[in-house]
Amino acid sequence: MRAEPILLASPHLSRKGWERFHIKEALDKNWIAPVGENIDRFEAELCAQIGSPNGVAVSSGTAAIHLGLKALGVGAGDKVICSTFTFAASCNPICYENAEPIFVDSERDTWNMDPKALEEALSKNPRVKAVILVHLYGIPAKIVEIKEICQRYQVPLLEDAAESLGSTYHNQMTGTFGQIGIYSFNGNKIITTSGGGMLVTNNHDYAKKAKFWATQSREQELHYEHKELGYNYRMSNISAGIGRGQLRILQDRVEKKRYIHQKYQELLSDIPEIGWLTEPKGTYSNYWLTCGIFDGIDQQLVIQSLAEHQIESRPLWKPMHLQPFFKKYGYHGEHVSDGLFATGMCFPSDTKMGDKDLDRVTDVIRRKVRQLRK
Ligand SMILES: Cc1ncc(COP(=O)(O)O)c(C=O)c1O
Repeated sequence: MRAEPILLASPHLSRKGWERFHIKEALDKNWIAPVGENIDRFEAELCAQIGSPNGVAVSSGTAAIHLGLKALGVGAGDKVICSTFTFAASCNPICYENAEPIFVDSERDTWNMDPKALEEALSKNPRVKAVILVHLYGIPAKIVEIKEICQRYQVPLLEDAAESLGSTYHNQMTGTFGQIGIYSFNGNKIITTSGGGMLVTNNHDYAKKAKFWATQSREQELHYEHKELGYNYRMSNISAGIGRGQLRILQDRVEKKRYIHQKYQELLSDIPEIGWLTEPKGTYSNYWLTCGIFDGIDQQLVIQSLAEHQIESRPLWKPMHLQPFFKKYGYHGEHVSDGLFATGMCFPSDTKMGDKDLDRVTDVIRRKVRQLRK
């Protein structure tokens, strides 16, 4: 008999059925067309949880980044700095606007943007229009240091907190430090709307503009009047209903992810070849994915062995400056992220996993590592 598959991170609905409750309400009231009360409520409820005055619910985290860049005035020919160690969705929207990405390397402790490399990039590239900082795998970046550098160079900061909803830096939520923050509710994220995103900002005008662009830049006229290019980026009322239900159990999910991370460390404490990515002092991580690097062990063989046991794991993100599409663009750093990519792995971090699943995963890893030791 084949064992049940164990996944990296998959949608996990609330036990109490909150998502169903909010969707049913929308169906009963015939609010299934794009706009509706769930959207307004989801924006308000998420903003209340993270401590931001404005939220705009959209169809994806990528759309939120795109609108965020537009709000910051990014256009053709502008330069935008972005963490290189990330998923392509962080920087694709730079190219949607025909602007030019410049990639900045990771530091060794958080794996996030290295403040020194950022400073070098800003000093060598005048007229940078924005910085996109990613809080990867839920670990907060050195946000205060990075914000101070951005302020000194008078460049606005967009936080890509797609993976870090619920993580804090000195008790403040990631995504609320920059001029703009974004979250993703893609199916693999800590909470999901089946697909969606949110832009948050202290700036009321940015939020208003983002909402306007997201609804085809439709002017307030009875007829359809358009003075600007628009997008169909608004979240649907049904998706927002799922989001409202998921928001109620966000903290439970964070606690489970933290438990999974701690169990991996405990269960694999006899494997010194693994170096874990852990939250720095003063920060609190949602541990969206537990990650580690392997010393002297080919992690691809570990991933393969897990796959043979129906267990999903992944290599770390391949840095953007190594991607065929992006390698023509600028890069600043010392190739720390190249090394992370070459040796690292995302461990299965599905919140539906129980202790028996964690034993199963760690047994396979232990056996493989022992076999691979020279
Ligand atoms: C770091 C990062 N940024 C942006 C995104 C884009 O989010 P979405 O898939 O909702 O467009 C994702 C995830 O998919 C991500 O991991």
